[in-house]
Parts: sequence; C-alpha cells; structure tokens
Amino acid sequence: MAGKKRLTELSERAPKVRAQRVCASGDLADGGDGIRFEVDHNGETVPAFAIRYGGRVYAYLNRCAHIAMELDWNPGKFLDAEGEYLICSTHGAVYAPESGACRGGPCRGAGLSGLTVTEVGGNVYVERG
Ligand code: FES
Repeated sequence: MAGKKRLTELSERAPKVRAQRVCASGDLADGGDGIRFEVDHNGETVPAFAIRYGGRVYAYLNRCAHIAMELDWNPGKFLDAEGEYLICSTHGAVYAPESGACRGGPCRGAGLSGLTVTEVGGNVYVERG
C-alpha cells in the first residue's frame, strides 16, 4: 500500500505534458559523460544529449551551430579536457554548458538549441518540441 501511494505521488509530480524521460538522475555524474537520446523536435526525431554541470542537468540538440554535425567525438564525450566547455569534435567550437552559448571557435556567436529539462523523482525529463 505504501508503495502504491509513493508511486502515485511520483506520477503526480512527474511532468505530464510532452515530457520524455531521458534517464535516471544517477546516470549523469557532475562534469561527466553525457547521455545521448533522440527527441521529437519540430516534427522530426533528432539526436540530443543531456549533461550534468554544476549540479544541474542541461540538454541540447546534438547539432553544432557551425555545421549540423553531432558534437561528441566518442559517444557521450561532450566536455573539453578541463570539463569547462562543451566542445564540437569536428572543428572545435566551444559552448557554455549552462546556456549553450558560443564561447569560441567557428560557431561565431551562434549557440546550441536548448531543451527544457525537469528533474523529479530521480529521473530526468525533457520537453518535446
Ligand atoms: S561542425 Fe562543429 S565546429 Fe564545425
């Protein structure tokens, strides 16, 4: 009975409208590898990723602002060697993890497309676009 009540509480808190579960919260270590996933966005299913940075989860379409290439050189490797910036493996554009804003390289001021993230009940969700 207590388990059922807990499940009801969690389902009530979980995002309902257009939300997509990405992973368990524990799957994203702070400053660690990202999680790749696909999301419906403007009528297409497109690659995306989530990372934890500074304790918060951020998610972006996995599409560089320079050329529409995926960023990670190895699956889940989105941060540079210092763990300071998101980096595109193709030509080295760097982006702020907390905003997706261009911080250098060939992105030339264009940022990543961010997704709305909710973390609740030990799970990470993004909003479909
Ligand atoms: S494709 Fe990402 S920097 Fe060129």
